[in-house]
Amino acid sequence: MRQWMDLEASYGAHNYHPLPVVISRGEGVWVWDVQGKRYLDMLSAYSAVSHGHCHPRVLQALEEQAKRLCVVSRAFYTDKLGLFLEKLCGVSSMDMALVMNTGAEAVETAIKAARLWGYCKKKIPEAEAEILVAQGNFHGRTSAIISFSSEPAYKKHFGPFMPGFQTVPFGDAEAVERAITDRTAAFLVEPMQGEAGIIIPPKGWLFKVAEICKKHNVLLLLDEVQTGLGRTGATFAFQKEGIVPDGLILGKALGGGVLPVSAFLAKKEIMELFTPGSHGSTFGGNPLAAAVGLEALKVMEEEHFAERSARLGAYLKAELQAIVCPWIREVRGEGLWIGIELDPAYVSARAFCEKLMDLGVLAKETHEVVVRLAPPLVIQKEELDWAVSQCKKAIDFFSLPLR
Ligand SMILES: Cc1ncc(COP(=O)(O)O)c(C=O)c1O
Repeated sequence: MRQWMDLEASYGAHNYHPLPVVISRGEGVWVWDVQGKRYLDMLSAYSAVSHGHCHPRVLQALEEQAKRLCVVSRAFYTDKLGLFLEKLCGVSSMDMALVMNTGAEAVETAIKAARLWGYCKKKIPEAEAEILVAQGNFHGRTSAIISFSSEPAYKKHFGPFMPGFQTVPFGDAEAVERAITDRTAAFLVEPMQGEAGIIIPPKGWLFKVAEICKKHNVLLLLDEVQTGLGRTGATFAFQKEGIVPDGLILGKALGGGVLPVSAFLAKKEIMELFTPGSHGSTFGGNPLAAAVGLEALKVMEEEHFAERSARLGAYLKAELQAIVCPWIREVRGEGLWIGIELDPAYVSARAFCEKLMDLGVLAKETHEVVVRLAPPLVIQKEELDWAVSQCKKAIDFFSLPLR
């Protein structure tokens, strides 16, 4: 085990702090380490593995396409991209899509689209467009995106930062309205915040925000990279508020757990502003990614991810909330996306995750105090019961000194 960890540490940048486990195989909701120990994956790569590891249908689509055609760049048309785009727009109620690879690239695309629309349609004076963002946001790690992060650790020594962003409190619709000026092009926000620690905004907030944006001719751009494709108990979190955004950012689960596939989707009047050369990516929309993305969306629908997530998530949350423990501050979440907030004076989320790992459950801390649970959406109730039993063992372990 040590040899693999040392190899990564010697030759790789230390920009992550992984749990000390070396995984070599995965199937469904389970992964195995190099010594053959089995773990229940309760993180699923932050929703990227919502389909579970090595989903047979996704793998079959990958294999069939890989043998035919993988990459040609967008210099040519392919017989796969159009089918993927059509499906993507169909499931999301959007008119058009621009396919990229990673979540951050899709966010960058959304930022460019908002500015483009701001200048071409809203007639904001050139180079003065502003985009509103939320306190506690997480949209990725590129230089532009960290420019409007409110987390000092993501920014330290990486300046100078890109101007043109204003931060408003998350979950406060009136603050959005107050911050809007005639130079505001868009409000870019996660409908529920993941990295910030599974923060669920007040009910009705997004609905109000959508109304405010419409009233002031400001685009509402939702980042559903983590919440999208069934994670929160609906195909998209925005559906829970009965709204449709102007633009939508998807990633993670769009790649079916096997490839990086992301997209920015929008209404036609926004997307048609892009012209040849104004944006692009060599790998974005390649036929292999398109075949995988198409199958990932079909599996999501046919295996009822949203419904499973709503039903099993409610069950998991109730089971965890029923645990009586003085140092658990809160169990919150939507669908199979749950945060357990601990009292850090008693036990750190990291220590708790390490204990869970010993007990055969993989989860990851966020911001030292929250343990995030986001299992593959193909998980069964019995597997969740087992995860809860292991959580109880970890709680008992840390509670011993209290007795
Ligand atoms: C809401 C949200 N947006 C964007 C990203 C960035 O995605 P990627 O890591 O694929 O660039 C993430 C990653 O966690 C995310 O949670």
